[in-house]
Order: sequence, then structure tokens, then C-alpha cells
Amino acid sequence: MAQQILLNNIKVPGLASFDVYRKLGGYTSVEKTLKNFTPDEVTAEVKKSGLRGRGGAGFPAGMKWGFIDKSTNNPRYFVCNFDESEPGTFKDRHIGQLNPHQLIEGMILGSYALGARTSYIYIRGELFYVLRIIEKAIEEAYANGFLGENILGSGYSLDLYCQPGGGAYICGEETALIESLEGKRGNPRIKPPFPAIVGLYDCPTVVNNVETISALPWIMNNGADAYSAIGIANSKGTKLISACGHINKPGIYEIELGLPVEEFIYSDQYCGGIRNGNKLKAVVAGGSSVPILPAELILKTAKGEPRLMSYESLAEGGFETGTMLGSGGFIVMDDTTCIVKNLLTFARFYHHESCGQCSPCREGTGWMEKILQRIEDGRGTMKDIDLLVGISKHIEGNTICPLGDAAAWPVASAVRHFRQEFEDHVKLQRCPLSK
Ligand code: NAI
Ligand code: SF4
Repeated sequence: MAQQILLNNIKVPGLASFDVYRKLGGYTSVEKTLKNFTPDEVTAEVKKSGLRGRGGAGFPAGMKWGFIDKSTNNPRYFVCNFDESEPGTFKDRHIGQLNPHQLIEGMILGSYALGARTSYIYIRGELFYVLRIIEKAIEEAYANGFLGENILGSGYSLDLYCQPGGGAYICGEETALIESLEGKRGNPRIKPPFPAIVGLYDCPTVVNNVETISALPWIMNNGADAYSAIGIANSKGTKLISACGHINKPGIYEIELGLPVEEFIYSDQYCGGIRNGNKLKAVVAGGSSVPILPAELILKTAKGEPRLMSYESLAEGGFETGTMLGSGGFIVMDDTTCIVKNLLTFARFYHHESCGQCSPCREGTGWMEKILQRIEDGRGTMKDIDLLVGISKHIEGNTICPLGDAAAWPVASAVRHFRQEFEDHVKLQRCPLSK
């Protein structure tokens, strides 16, 4: 059984209540940290642990905290990105719903490290029932002296608020999230400046994902060395993977980074193999924003080495033959799947969610959707296939935020790895898999 850091007590009845959480050792990291660590020592500990951002980008968390501008007298803010909306990604919702105090405990630690006196959990608007659970947990934390003035007599004070999101995928992009938190339309800002310098209300701000923040209590309780002893290379600790699609056991799994992909897909401890004994066709390993890989390349790298569930191994080969760990939304497709149709679903999503600020994304996502629709309907031409690739190249790297790249990468990789299937749609003037 892999080390469980985030899901350890997840099945304990009543875990969402303060009393049950506290009886299981909850909030001891706050007691320990406020007494024995300075804020800079907490940052140093998180840096040493090797914890990387679990929202998708995998940026080292401690390094991000280290960028915070402490030279001004402006307030600093710590913000939790709970706007989980990446297709195939449903891990944050799970821990927020069942273990909200772990997240609040992590918020206190991060806020203390950054010197924030006011912090926010920005939660996806559709998850209103989870917002209610978190608000109740925040009330309990106040009532028990873990939030508010002079926490545990340490002299440190913190107010924590939970804010429902604006109902758009783009509000999960950190600068759009900040705009939305300020009460504006969630349009991404140009970076740099990064939020660590100019963030919420133009003040230094760190935005971290729910899963990243929820790992902090364990790190402060057990030490950076214990955390970095788990995992492999520059992929330390555990990662939540939300596995879905054509597998026997869809669900949320906490894996130690470095687990072979083959074991994750086929062992009974995790996905339990492909449904109905079908053949594996393709996997989108990190939420819909990453390149799709065919079975042979998700199980083994182009060099023939076993592919591992880690930042480095999944990226091995670059975008020619590799992909990304991303958010950990692991979408598995068997040999009954039409890649064109699947891609059309993704393209429709990105077109709908584009905020429209930059033309390559606003226009390009629309064109990709139209072209994919015509190929899927049997009205496409061979030229359309190259046109798709051309549009994706024009979007990539030419937009304000990564939504443009996220829309382009799946298209470019699908044509690269499954070109024959696109051509068959054109030749047969229908989907080759339709009866
Ligand atoms: P990014 O690579 O631009 O930034 C990562 C983080 O590091 C940000 O917080 C950024 O402010 C910080 N950073 C990077 N360089 C910095 C510097 N020089 N100084 C200060 N701070 C710096 O990526 P981004 O836009 O934060 O995330 C993109 C990822 O998000 C994608 O890979 C995608 O997989 C994922 N995603 C996840 C979703 C979810 O629901 N979990 C939804 C949509 C996207
Ligand atoms: Fe908006 Fe798309 Fe530009 Fe991002 S890339 S700012 S979503 S138009």
C-alpha cells in the first residue's frame, strides 16, 4: 500500500467535523509550527520537501513562496485555488468535501509562512455544497482558536474567507482568479509581473492548489526529509490521481510518484485494467490540457523504458513522444474510442471557455471545433487535417494565458499519433468506428 498523506483518514466517519479531525491529530502541525518555526523556516522546510504545485504546472511550491515581495509594507495574501474545472479532474472536490480541516490547517501554515493576515479559498461556483462544508469548518476553526486574533497565543492572527467562483473554467487561471476575487470579470492578466510581486489588490500574493496546501500539515508534522524520501527524482511525495474513462475501477487514488503507469492502469489496487477486457488505445494523463498518448507511448517511453507516474518520466521525449503529469486527471480510452470525436469534445470545451481576450485563442479554438466537427461528420478533406495542425501552431505560445496552449496541444498530439484515423474519416466520409 502506497503511503497515504492526503487520503489517510478519508474514510473515517465525521472527518469533516472539527472534533473528529482533532482527535486524529488534526491541527498539531499548527501548534508545532507557530511555537517552533519562524515564517522563513516554514518556507525553507517546504522548499526542502520538494513539494511541487499540484494544480497542473508542477512549479516548486517553496520556490514560489520565496518569490513573495517582502520589501513593501503592503499586505500579503495567500489564496487557495479551488476552482477545479479541468476535464477529468475531480480530486480537490473529494478532499475539500471529506477533509476540509486538512485544507484549513494547510492554509494557516502557508499564510503564516508568507505573513498573510487575510487569506482566501476561491472555490468553483458549481461546488456550492462543498463551499457550505468548508464554511462550517472555518467557523469551527475560529471557535477553537485556530483562526482569528492571536492564534494559540502566538501573536499571529489570520482571517480566512471562502469565496464562490465566477462559473467559468478560466477563473482557475491564477490571474483570472485574482481578478474575479477582486469582483471583476475573470480575464487573465499578462505575466510577468507574477502574482508573487503584483497579485490580489496589487499586493504580493501566492496562489496554490488545494492538494498542494493539504500536504503542508503532513510536511510540518513529519519534516521535509520524510516527505522528500517518498517519490522519485524531482517528483517528491504523493499525488492524487482522478482516474476515469474505460477502466474497471474509476476513482481517486493517492499514489507515490514514480509508480509505473502500467501498474497504475492494470493492477487491482488502482484502475484494475481496461473494461470488458478491451485493448488500451490512448491516455490523456494530466487533465484535458496535455498531449494525448497512444497505448505504446503511455506504457513505455520512446527509448523503451517503462513510463512512470512522475513529472519527468511522463514528459520524457518532449511533446513529440511524451506528455505531462498536469493536474492528475487520468483519462483512459479503450479501442472502441473515436479519437476525432473525443478531440471534438475537448475543442468544444476550450472554444466555449475561451475568455476572448486574444485572437489566436478566441478565433483558433472556434475554427478547430468547426473543422473537427466536419471531419467527424464525414465532410472533412485531407487539407483539413493539416489545417488543424496549422491552427494549433498559431495558437501555441501566442496567447496571454495557457488556455490557448491547452486547446492546441491535444489537437497537435492527436494528429501526430492518430493521423491514420483522421484520414480514414475523410476517405470513408464517416467515422470508421460507427456501425
Ligand atoms: P505557470 O507555469 O505559468 O505558473 C506556475 C506557477 O508558478 C504560478 O503560480 C506562477 O505565478 C508561478 N511562477 C512561475 N514563474 C514564476 C516567476 N518567475 N516568479 C514568480 N512566480 C512564478 O502555470 P499556470 O498558469 O499557473 O498553470 C497551468 C497549468 O494549470 C496547466 O498545466 C494545467 O494543467 C493546469 N490547469 C489545472 C486546472 C485544474 O482544474 N486543476 C484547470 C486549468 C489548468
Ligand atoms: Fe483568454 Fe484564451 Fe487569451 Fe487565455 S488564451 S487570455 S482564455 S483568449
